[in-house]
Amino acid sequence: MEPDKVIAKGKTKTIYSTVSPKEVLIVSNDNITAGDGARCDTLPGKGGWSTTTTCCVFNLLQAHGIPVAYNHARDDVSFYALNCTMIPLEVVVRREAYGSYLKRHPNLKKRHRFDALIVEFYLKTNDCVWEGLSLPCDDPLIEFNFAIGSAYLFDPRQAEGKFFASIFLNKILGEIGGENKYASMHHHARQVFHILEDRWDKLGYTLVDFKLEFGLTADGKLVLADVLDSDSWRLLKNGQNMDKQVYRDGELDPELLAKVAAIYEEIAEMSRKLIDL
Ligand SMILES: Nc1ncnc2c1ncn2[C@@H]1O[C@H](COP(=O)(O)OP(=O)(O)OP(=O)(O)O)[C@@H](O)[C@H]1O
Ligand SMILES: [Mg+2]
Repeated sequence: MEPDKVIAKGKTKTIYSTVSPKEVLIVSNDNITAGDGARCDTLPGKGGWSTTTTCCVFNLLQAHGIPVAYNHARDDVSFYALNCTMIPLEVVVRREAYGSYLKRHPNLKKRHRFDALIVEFYLKTNDCVWEGLSLPCDDPLIEFNFAIGSAYLFDPRQAEGKFFASIFLNKILGEIGGENKYASMHHHARQVFHILEDRWDKLGYTLVDFKLEFGLTADGKLVLADVLDSDSWRLLKNGQNMDKQVYRDGELDPELLAKVAAIYEEIAEMSRKLIDL
C-alpha cells in the first residue's frame, strides 16, 4: 500500500502517515549532511544502508526490552514506526572525549576514556530561535533544574560555564512527569550504549559516542524514536573512523564520497550480524 501524506520532511528522511494514525512510515533518502545542513551531498545507496543499520539496531534493542518506536522494515529504504510527538532533545552518550566535548574541555586529550558514561542533552532548535527567544547558536547544551522548573542553555562550542539563557522546562518535557521522562531517557540512553558497545566490540569496532532522540506515542509512552545509524554515532576500527566523521573532516571530492559510501555499506552489512552475537 502506498503511503499517503507527508507528516514531516527533514534533510535525510521523510515521515508519511499510514492507514493507522498510530503508525508512520519513515523513508530515508540518499542525502548526507554536516554542520546542521551547511554541507549536503548525495550518496547513492545511503538511504538503504541507513535503513538497514537502523532496522538491525532497533531489532536488537527491541530484543533487549528497550521501548522503541520502530515496528518493522517495509523495504530497503523505509520502515514502519509508532507515530511520535518528538521530544525536542538530542541525547548524547559518550564513552570517549571527541567532537564538541573537547571544545568544552580543552584539558582533555581526544579519545580520553570515561569509565562512567557521560550523558548530555541538547535542545533541538532551528534558525537560532527557541519559542521566540533568540539564541547565539543552534542545538545548545541544556541542563535541567527540576527543583525550580527551569533549564539552562549553554553554547556547546565554548569552554564550560558559557551559560546564556534560562527557559521553562515544561515547554520541553510537558506539564506533568518531566523529571520521570528525563530519568527514563537517561537510563535508556545508557542501556542502549552498553548493548551496542558490547556488540560492536565483539565485531572489532569501538563505539565512541552516539546521539538519540525520544518521542511520546499516542498512548503517552516514552520510546526511543528517529533512527540510529552511521549518521548517529562515532565508531572506530583500528583507530580509524568508520562513520560520518570521515565526511565531516574530508576535502570534498568524488574520492571522499566513495570512501564514505564504502564505510556506510560496510557498517550496514556488519549491523546485520549484531543480533546473532
Ligand atoms: N517515530 C517518529 N514519529 C514522528 N516523527 C519522527 C519519528 N522519528 C523521527 N521523526 C522526525 O522526523 C523528522 C525528519 O527527520 P530528519 O532527521 O530528516 O530531519 P532533520 O532535517 O535532521 O531535522 P531534525 O533536526 O529535526 O532532525 C525529524 O523532525 C524527526 O524528529
Ligand atoms: Mg534528524
